Amino acid sequence: MSDIKIKEAPVTDEEAQPILTHEKSLSQKIARGSEAGDILDQQMVMLGIQLVTHLNVLIKTSRIYERTNAALDKPVDAMLTLIKTMAHDQPVTLRLQNDFLFLGDSHLKVNAQQMAVATSIIDALNAWKIGGMTFSSTVESKDLREFAALFVSLDPDNKTIEDLQKEITVRGIAGIEIGEQRQLQIRRGSGTTGNMGSDGTESTDRNVQRKVNAKTGYAKMAGSVGTLTQASREGGSISFKQAKRAIQNIIDLMADDEATVLGLTTLRCHDEYTHNHSVNVSLLSMALANRVGYPKVELADLGLAALFHDMGKSTIPMEVLNKPGEFTDDDWVAMRNHPTEGVLSLSKLRGITNLPGRMAAAAFEHHMNLDFSGYPKLTVPWTLSLTGRILTIADCYDAMTSSRVYRREPMSPSKVLNMMLSKSGKSFDEVLLKLFVNCVGIVPIGSLVMLETSELAVVLKPAADKANGERPFVRVITDSQGNLVDHGREIDLTEKDETGDFRHNIIRLIDNTEYKFDTSRYFV
Ligand SMILES: [Fe+2]
Ligand SMILES: [Fe+2]
Repeated sequence: MSDIKIKEAPVTDEEAQPILTHEKSLSQKIARGSEAGDILDQQMVMLGIQLVTHLNVLIKTSRIYERTNAALDKPVDAMLTLIKTMAHDQPVTLRLQNDFLFLGDSHLKVNAQQMAVATSIIDALNAWKIGGMTFSSTVESKDLREFAALFVSLDPDNKTIEDLQKEITVRGIAGIEIGEQRQLQIRRGSGTTGNMGSDGTESTDRNVQRKVNAKTGYAKMAGSVGTLTQASREGGSISFKQAKRAIQNIIDLMADDEATVLGLTTLRCHDEYTHNHSVNVSLLSMALANRVGYPKVELADLGLAALFHDMGKSTIPMEVLNKPGEFTDDDWVAMRNHPTEGVLSLSKLRGITNLPGRMAAAAFEHHMNLDFSGYPKLTVPWTLSLTGRILTIADCYDAMTSSRVYRREPMSPSKVLNMMLSKSGKSFDEVLLKLFVNCVGIVPIGSLVMLETSELAVVLKPAADKANGERPFVRVITDSQGNLVDHGREIDLTEKDETGDFRHNIIRLIDNTEYKFDTSRYFV
């Protein structure tokens, strides 16, 4: 389920467009973070996409022609010009991280036409488990030709990246280095097994402290949503300072223990649904964006945008929001207006920074869906931001697993995930949804499962090994008679016995809604 295949892209000549150049000393004159710096970054990203395009042509052409063939001249020359343009003070590094391409630290955002080329390169790099490719300014035509020939002649199914590296040295290819894929530094949560407390690898004190901090961070975020929504209703002045600080703390906690933070999102029984929902969407969005490879600063901006994505609801009367019965048509109109109202509310808070402006874009887009089947409906062409696409996934997941607002009855996390997967590529971005499943797990965090011993257990975090995605880490919460137990044992369902069989098995998923208790207490 977690291996969604990306289609092979055909190579066309139009992809090999002429290249841009810019003054080499420009980057030294421009301060980073300045507006001119942004423009320079954008230009580098454009050149980066061209580099990817020509690399793709080079690899495809090398499958057909010899390394000295004239058919290779065009992509090779284009690459050399690009590399020499970009690699003035440091080599050019193309990185692959969680199925997204980066030039150095800049995400290479591709448009629909460039998508085929990008996925073709992503597939090629993934096949070799290559996480980075560095070209230095000294690279020559013969190096690129030799490298491409080598790349297509060896079979990644029976050779490793080390074999490829060795061959690069043996053949004297200079100016090109390849590196292995690496995990994100910030995330140690779901990929590792070392920080769940009961395994004794970490002091319990620290664990307890972290859980307390996570809970406090969550409460602070919810608190600031409450205060700011109230202030917005009353037209008062607003400062995002408290929210920003709380988000920063949460990001630090996530780096340490993502599972605990995501566990908080399973908090279901709460009166202040809207505030909890906002915090949950923020946490889930940040976890997803982290996998996308957002740098820390952008992660905080996204967290803030997600926290206030439903700001437009402050214009909906409380009686409507908390209505126990069905919505009337008018109620629905008001409800469907909240993304647009959100833009207005956030734009009013613009102040001297442009942050609320970016937040407004995210609020505007969060119900549109990838295929624009949602709302608001637009009569002009629109391109969804990456933040908007991330938010759509996090928002839908939390809204459906929680009760209230859109549905009277909440659905179990796994039902929601299955429903969302059935709309992959339609309502939701396919790659992002795949990464989201990695965050919450195929059997999502907070799910209730019955083990073959008839004990009930709650899912704490996804399996470390994605091949065993259906075997998460769980905590036993009842005995086989269904009596709640305190401090139940923690089980890694991928654990095998001496005969090589799995020690424990899930026999069925329990609909959380059957048992109306709060699974979040098993996390904090
Ligand atoms: Fe919304
Ligand atoms: Fe929402």
